[in-house]
Amino acid sequence: MAENMMHAVQYSSYGGGAAALKYVEVPIPSPKKGEVLLKLEATSLNPLDLKIQKGMMRPFFPRKFPHIPGTDVAGEVVKVGAGVKDFKTGDKVVAALGMASGGGLGEFVVAEQSLIVARPPQVSAVEGSGLPIAGISAYQALTSAGVKLDGSGPQLNLLITAASGGVGHYAVQLAKLGNTHVTATCGARNLDLVKSLGADEVLDYNTPDGAALKSPSGCKYDAVIQCTSGFIPWSTLEPNLSTNGKVIQLAPSATVYMTYAVKKLTFSKKKLIPLHAEPNKKDLDYLIKLIKEGKLKTIIDSKHPLSKAEDAWAKCLDGHATGKIIVEP
Ligand SMILES: NC(=O)c1ccc[n+]([C@@H]2O[C@H](COP(=O)([O-])OP(=O)(O)OC[C@H]3O[C@@H](n4cnc5c(N)ncnc54)[C@H](OP(=O)(O)O)[C@@H]3O)[C@@H](O)[C@H]2O)c1
Repeated sequence: MAENMMHAVQYSSYGGGAAALKYVEVPIPSPKKGEVLLKLEATSLNPLDLKIQKGMMRPFFPRKFPHIPGTDVAGEVVKVGAGVKDFKTGDKVVAALGMASGGGLGEFVVAEQSLIVARPPQVSAVEGSGLPIAGISAYQALTSAGVKLDGSGPQLNLLITAASGGVGHYAVQLAKLGNTHVTATCGARNLDLVKSLGADEVLDYNTPDGAALKSPSGCKYDAVIQCTSGFIPWSTLEPNLSTNGKVIQLAPSATVYMTYAVKKLTFSKKKLIPLHAEPNKKDLDYLIKLIKEGKLKTIIDSKHPLSKAEDAWAKCLDGHATGKIIVEP
């Protein structure tokens, strides 16, 4: 392969699932002003990557085809663009890439300095690459729910659904840094894992009580961090909420927005709040610090080589990941 070329995985139109991914040779991108070129060490996939491929974010993402997907990366700085002062060649970092540009499934990737943070040696590339979307979403969902991660504030009863997934497994661990009682839902095979992450009680979502989201200890939830991709109707959520309980919804749909509007217009004390997580340097830095201090970990579902990224994609599409799905060059 020529010196200025790299391997990458890309798709050329909307749809097509894992079969539409092609392992190709493309030119190594060049960092522009304020950008950094990274040699990839790990990328983690998110359901968002699949939604972009399905065309659910059109016409905004992706901006053009062919598109190299992937937004959450860890790597080493190999070149810096003009005006980059905070990073130098050889730095190990974690970065959130723009949804429009993507690029995570490439041996080299360009990242904007405003969304790059340093990665200390205690945090592996694989662990760090799990954080940008899933970790930040979990963190922002909890702060929207009023949880203070320094343990201050009154105790809150939380329900975290899909606690075995990419977002959910971080949410359980982060919630337990605050003053919370956590009820979590997951499938039978992950009950022990989710308990080990700190959940106070765990429900199998395939049982009647699990499907009804009923707390075994009988508590009503001050907040639900709703991480399932599938829809849970308000009629199931509402009876489990405390008087001022709120549902933070990570996978908003038309029905979710409708319910949100109705609750707002009727001044309902119980609220449904659609969440749109905003990757940012401050939150990413905080999460990396927690991993360094041993207060947070990334559970790895599986690791796949870049040349077999379609297997990782298919696994993500399957919707049954336990933790994060990782692709390595
Ligand atoms: N709004 C935002 O900013 C934002 C940010 C991040 C993510 N999201 C969205 O949030 C959703 C979750 O993302 P993710 O990365 O956590 O997904 P994920 O890793 O693919 O979630 C998979 C996990 O969900 C579990 N699960 C599925 N249905 C369940 C149910 N009814 N009850 C309990 N657990 C269930 C699965 O368990 P089993 O294998 O046992 O079935 C699996 O462990 C996605 O729709 C994603 O697009 C939104």
